[in-house]
Amino acid sequence: MEEKRKLATDNSTPSGGERGWGGLFWLSALLLLEGAAITSMTIWQQKSLAYYSDRVDTGHRLLAELEEACVPREDNNGDFLRKLLSGKERVLQQVCQRRTDLCRIGPKGEKGESGDAGVLGVSGSRGDVGVAGPSGDKGQRGAAGGSGSAGQQGPKGIKGDPGMQGTTGQEGEPGEKGSLGDMGPSGQAGANGTRGQKGEMGVAGHRGPRGAKGEPGPKGETGDPGPRGPAGDAGVVGPDGSSEDDGCICFELPTITGNFSDSVSVLEHHKLVLHCDVSDPTAKVTWRRTDGQSMPVNVNVTGNDIIFVAMAAVDAGVYECVTSSTVGDITKAVEITMIEPSKDDCDFEQGRFCLWTNTRDDKFDWTLNQGSTPTAHTGPTTDHTRGDGIGYYAFIETSDPRLNRDNARLASQVLNPSSPYCLNFWYYLYGQSIGNINVRIKQNGLVGSPVWTKTGPSEDAWHNAKISVPAQNTPFSLIIEGVRGDSYNGDAALDDITLTQGNCAP
Ligand SMILES: *[C@@H]1O[C@H](CO)[C@@H](O)[C@H](O)[C@H]1NC(C)=O
Ligand SMILES: *[C@@H]1O[C@H](CO)[C@@H](O)[C@H](O)[C@H]1NC(C)=O
Ligand SMILES: *[C@@H]1O[C@H](CO)[C@@H](O)[C@H](O)[C@H]1NC(C)=O
Repeated sequence: MEEKRKLATDNSTPSGGERGWGGLFWLSALLLLEGAAITSMTIWQQKSLAYYSDRVDTGHRLLAELEEACVPREDNNGDFLRKLLSGKERVLQQVCQRRTDLCRIGPKGEKGESGDAGVLGVSGSRGDVGVAGPSGDKGQRGAAGGSGSAGQQGPKGIKGDPGMQGTTGQEGEPGEKGSLGDMGPSGQAGANGTRGQKGEMGVAGHRGPRGAKGEPGPKGETGDPGPRGPAGDAGVVGPDGSSEDDGCICFELPTITGNFSDSVSVLEHHKLVLHCDVSDPTAKVTWRRTDGQSMPVNVNVTGNDIIFVAMAAVDAGVYECVTSSTVGDITKAVEITMIEPSKDDCDFEQGRFCLWTNTRDDKFDWTLNQGSTPTAHTGPTTDHTRGDGIGYYAFIETSDPRLNRDNARLASQVLNPSSPYCLNFWYYLYGQSIGNINVRIKQNGLVGSPVWTKTGPSEDAWHNAKISVPAQNTPFSLIIEGVRGDSYNGDAALDDITLTQGNCAP
């Protein structure tokens, strides 16, 4: 424990006299550091301690310089500074001398239970007396009066007319004088009197009596439950990690600020670099694989970075950046997934042109190559996919027998005309007399004029081209055409073609 020895030495030679005020500060810093050193068991903790010790040394030196500069002059400012600093020391001493251990901030307390449900609301008050019933309806119309009683018997019929004179009797023998004739029969009775007239309509019934007072209204409904009680108080923060001594010195875990999220996707053969940054510069960073697979051989872990030189399918999986510091380890995981290339994509890494073909309606063909092109000071030195001498790219070899303006065309498959496409590729146009690269549409057997063109030379680097091709009327294919410049000194190159349906993302 070299650190501890150093601290002990410093402590045994306290500053005297004028430096007493600085000594207190130094002493308290030492107590702090010593405590840390005793409880720090790992190399990383010692490193961390060295880091903080270094900072205290620097602080001490600055204080000594201030003292030199300010105190001997015995001016007011020097006195003031001296008092101010010694006051601060006393505070520091009080805070620090009781510490017994090094600890780290405990985990945040559990979230408090949610508050109990609010109590049931009181029952609603008794309903108000019902309002008086409405006045009774108007009485029913009285029943029709009974039929009038029969009319009085009509007056006795008028006496019937005298009966007809009897027929003249036959002339009798002259007889004796006849006796007087019988009286004629009485006339028939007169007709019965006619029926009396219908009685008059009865008058309306009397208005009904006023309705009785309504029954009291029903009891009011039970009131709604009272509002939910307030949420319970948050749980108290958990106790500190390793020590509950309130005099302990606490450090927070550092945070990881790496430039990757939970998941990262990458195309096969492509390079991927993930950088794991930590807020504590003394923390040690390691990378490991956490999906049970062993670390791939073509992965390079240097410093805080993990570098996949050329992503392979076996490299896909879950990795973790682990940072160890005085107060413990923290990790950040990342899942690396492969992007499935579409059938129209080509990075030439299989040493083939994938589904792209050299056409016959041109002067020469695109060639595949690794590393530098055969002509010095022209073309790339590595491919774009891997950036090394192993990766493949396509280029136009412009040396003899090629002539100025000779062209080489690479054609895609026949594409669906009803969709726009995004053609994306990387090109290299470097060399004194480089020509140009065109993109054309071939339709109905005819090659159209360029929809994109790039004329060299550009810088000695790979450049990206992104071309939106609108939907067409008939099936078509895309042509990437390299054209030779004025001399052999200009090999145009091409790599990492991707062709996706839909417009290019902006
Ligand atoms: C007259 O009235 C009487 C008694 O109601 C009845 O018996 C009689 O048949 C009536 N005569 C005629 C001609 O309607
Ligand atoms: C992360 O940062 C490194 C540089 O430190 C860079 O090379 C790399 O491309 C970055 N990776 C991502 C996924 O952004
Ligand atoms: C790993 O990276 C370092 C630094 O970039 C480099 O020097 C070394 O050659 C690389 N190793 C492999 C196996 O790629």
